[in-house]
Amino acid sequence: MSPDSSTAVTGDPGAHWWRHAVIYQVYVRSFADSDGDGIGDLPGIRSRLGHLAHLGVDALWITPFYPSPMADGGYDVADYRDVDPAFGTLDDARGLVADAHALGLRVIVDIVPNHTSAAHPWFQQALTAPPGSPERARYLFRPGRGDGPPNDWESVFGGPAWTRVPDGEWYLHLFDSSQPDVDWSNPEVRTEYVDVLRFWLDLGVDGFRIDVAHGLVKADGLPDAGDNDQHGVADTQRLPYFDQEGVHEIYRSWRAVLDSYSPPRVAVAEAWTRDAARTARYVRSDELHQAFNFHYLRADWSAADLRAVITGTLAATTPVGAPATWVLSNHDVQRVVTRYGDGPVGVRRARAATLLTLALPGSVYLYQGEELGLPEVLDLPDSVLQDPIWRRSNHTERGRDGCRVPIPWTRSGTALGFAPDGTTPWLPQPSGWSDLSVAAQTDDPASVLELYRTALRLRRDFDQAAELEWLESAPGVLTFHRGGLGCAVNFGPDTEILCGPLLLTSEQCEVDGAKLLLPQDTAAWWAIP
Ligand code: GLC
Repeated sequence: MSPDSSTAVTGDPGAHWWRHAVIYQVYVRSFADSDGDGIGDLPGIRSRLGHLAHLGVDALWITPFYPSPMADGGYDVADYRDVDPAFGTLDDARGLVADAHALGLRVIVDIVPNHTSAAHPWFQQALTAPPGSPERARYLFRPGRGDGPPNDWESVFGGPAWTRVPDGEWYLHLFDSSQPDVDWSNPEVRTEYVDVLRFWLDLGVDGFRIDVAHGLVKADGLPDAGDNDQHGVADTQRLPYFDQEGVHEIYRSWRAVLDSYSPPRVAVAEAWTRDAARTARYVRSDELHQAFNFHYLRADWSAADLRAVITGTLAATTPVGAPATWVLSNHDVQRVVTRYGDGPVGVRRARAATLLTLALPGSVYLYQGEELGLPEVLDLPDSVLQDPIWRRSNHTERGRDGCRVPIPWTRSGTALGFAPDGTTPWLPQPSGWSDLSVAAQTDDPASVLELYRTALRLRRDFDQAAELEWLESAPGVLTFHRGGLGCAVNFGPDTEILCGPLLLTSEQCEVDGAKLLLPQDTAAWWAIP
């Protein structure tokens, strides 16, 4: 059915490649800038695909590169079927897919179906159309309550989720006021987004990452949430605008579209839910293929917490026949090195977490720069901050720019290889990042980059179907077997464990036959003969 199956990946013809894939997230603005405007772009990604192939990942997910006023880094889409000139052209997108496929890498693109940009023609038409018109019915326009908004919903980015237009109606925006929510009870909306899916599938992409997949359907009648710290309670309570039953019907219809291509295409949900059981509902056999495991990302660096999340995830996903996913970082959260303690302790824990993550059954998402051990940049000057959270919180929350700083490729140059020399990147890179660049870390066996490369290479030989089996271990240590692999992670004081022939450790370890002295915050892999 796909018109360009000629560009399909030939290395792994299996339709189930995604079940154990390692997928690398490219945050397009910060990956590689080819033309010197300080902003990453599609030709930049093309020029660096060799890094991803060498790293050993199976696919890349590229964040939105569609025409956009960039009020939310491209998650405010003005045209779903084109490329923003800052990022390139549709031909660049085609070329990128073809180059990636030639290297055996699959390509996943972002779809943003919860909201458009206010600059989208639909919203522009809605603004000039009268209340009750079909143009307004594509969005959620409502009369207010007295002088106030229609209900008490809060924007995820701070402040009310409603903005008033001159004729007195209000429109809903769960994010920035420049990101109006579309109304998924309107059949025209449903048809439009299926058409957008087909547009990119016909261009040759292998799948989608679905932005705010838990948000599309709102509770009937738009009832009050009844809380004035709604995003503080999102972990424990269901809000009337998130994780509503009606979203599942949408994904069933999308699954039919994805399955109509050969080989079938895939989708991963960005669904922030209360627990693993709610997340698993998005990956039932007739819905989506994967959902990011944010419960894993949110766990503390603790043996008990991580074991509970791993066990809970597998218990929830196995019955629905879906693979688990494991994710430590993305463009919305503090980088894992910093979350786990920052500085040398954070790096050490992140290295151990990498071996833990890559040993688990299922699929893994890596975020660009994670393979370099980059920390969060905590001291960006106020004047460069672009995240709408900074503005909407009245400058009380700095937002997510600290995990979006352009990544360093070379030891020298004004943008450390992110952009042509002489370019100023859209966010400044810390001076110390020269030593963290791809060039500086390559061939250094102690580097984070070489740890990832080795771990990803070894992972290819694991029996991907093997289940995880926990072993008895000392307090503060997690030990498990999976097929021919043994893995231990020590969160507590240095301790001696029994192991088989060592494959890889996250730090240097002393080994004496089958006895391994595993230092604190260290992980080890060994072969089980
Ligand atoms: C998702 C994106 C985030 C964006 C938001 C609104 O959570 O990951 O970056 O701000 O959706 O589109």
